[in-house]
Amino acid sequence: MRDLKSSPQGKLLIYGATGYTGMLIIHEAARRGIDFEIAGRNEEKLAVLAAELNVPYHVFPVGDIEGWKASLKGKTALLNIAGPFSETAEQAMEAAIQFKVHYFDITAEVDIYRLAESKDAAAKAAGIMLLSGAGLFATYDPLVLHTAKRVKNPVAFRAAFKYSGGFTPGSVASSSNIINAGLLVRKNGEIKKLNEAPSAAFDLGDGPEDFSLMPLGGVVLSFKSTGIPDIEEYFKMALQAESTEGGNMKFEEGHHKTGLKSERSKILVEVTGEDGTVVRSMADTPDGYMPTVTSAVEVVNRALNGSYKIGFQSPASAYGAELVTSLLDVNITDF
Ligand SMILES: NC(=O)c1ccc[n+]([C@@H]2O[C@H](COP(=O)([O-])OP(=O)(O)OC[C@H]3O[C@@H](n4cnc5c(N)ncnc54)[C@H](OP(=O)(O)O)[C@@H]3O)[C@@H](O)[C@H]2O)c1
Repeated sequence: MRDLKSSPQGKLLIYGATGYTGMLIIHEAARRGIDFEIAGRNEEKLAVLAAELNVPYHVFPVGDIEGWKASLKGKTALLNIAGPFSETAEQAMEAAIQFKVHYFDITAEVDIYRLAESKDAAAKAAGIMLLSGAGLFATYDPLVLHTAKRVKNPVAFRAAFKYSGGFTPGSVASSSNIINAGLLVRKNGEIKKLNEAPSAAFDLGDGPEDFSLMPLGGVVLSFKSTGIPDIEEYFKMALQAESTEGGNMKFEEGHHKTGLKSERSKILVEVTGEDGTVVRSMADTPDGYMPTVTSAVEVVNRALNGSYKIGFQSPASAYGAELVTSLLDVNITDF
């Protein structure tokens, strides 16, 4: 039975609960005493999960406005975990705006952040917060703000993300969208697409390693939270992917099944100040998808408890640099 004394005020709808990350998130939401209902398009899977957690469920395709109307009745927030988000975010954001509930998702697709940004005025008019990127970016974006605060007048940042873990089918589909968005950077405050992918070396504690340019979302989200005009983001996998017949990595509980010892994921942020000072901060997190799960539930829980800013927000523009230090099992090193 849930502890009513620690129950938050608002009620949550979780759409896309039947996926790998969805299942982890609904168990974490239940553990934290959040009052929620689940939704998605697959009745069979939803019925099993709803029975297990003793919560109501709603079955409807993402484009069904009547489904949204019925399921969002009495809710404070919607957490969309159905990805690839290119197929679900537009409809879910519009439903959140129409039925006046705060919107969250866990996407890493940069085009979805731009979509949320484009709906800023509509979200403000509805009095709701639109926060796309409440997953891993709830660590990354406040880390950028944290690092930026260590110099006077930050003018540029570079980030290097070394990911340790596997990928689900939803993530593989989302990765194509990230790659197809192109080699995006921000220069003098404007998003630009590069023709060739530069690589750069970063030292995340194991000596210099080469990373490839990849827009992680900071070009939109951390520009929102810091206003830093020059942004470059880089990525590499910590372990070599092991393919299955279907082309996806073997995956269990968010970890690799390569037999190799799993590492923690690491995000390094390097900020340059106007006077040329360079500072670096690094966050290390558990491998796999658990950081996304705990972050998303933490951020959504805050909104359910009445802590939100209306309009398009990033994790740090809404909740500040301190968000990163409040997350479970995230260590920050400044150097
Ligand atoms: N940035 C981060 O921190 C982070 C971390 C983890 C995951 N993610 C993203 O979150 C998304 C979900 O990941 P996952 O691990 O749960 O993937 P998954 O195990 O493949 O599950 C995908 C989920 O999305 C639903 N879905 C997909 N397309 C849909 C559509 N058109 N309409 C309605 N529902 C749809 C699926 O429903 P069915 O069960 O009916 O197929 C399922 O519930 C992916 O895009 C992934 O990249 C981001």
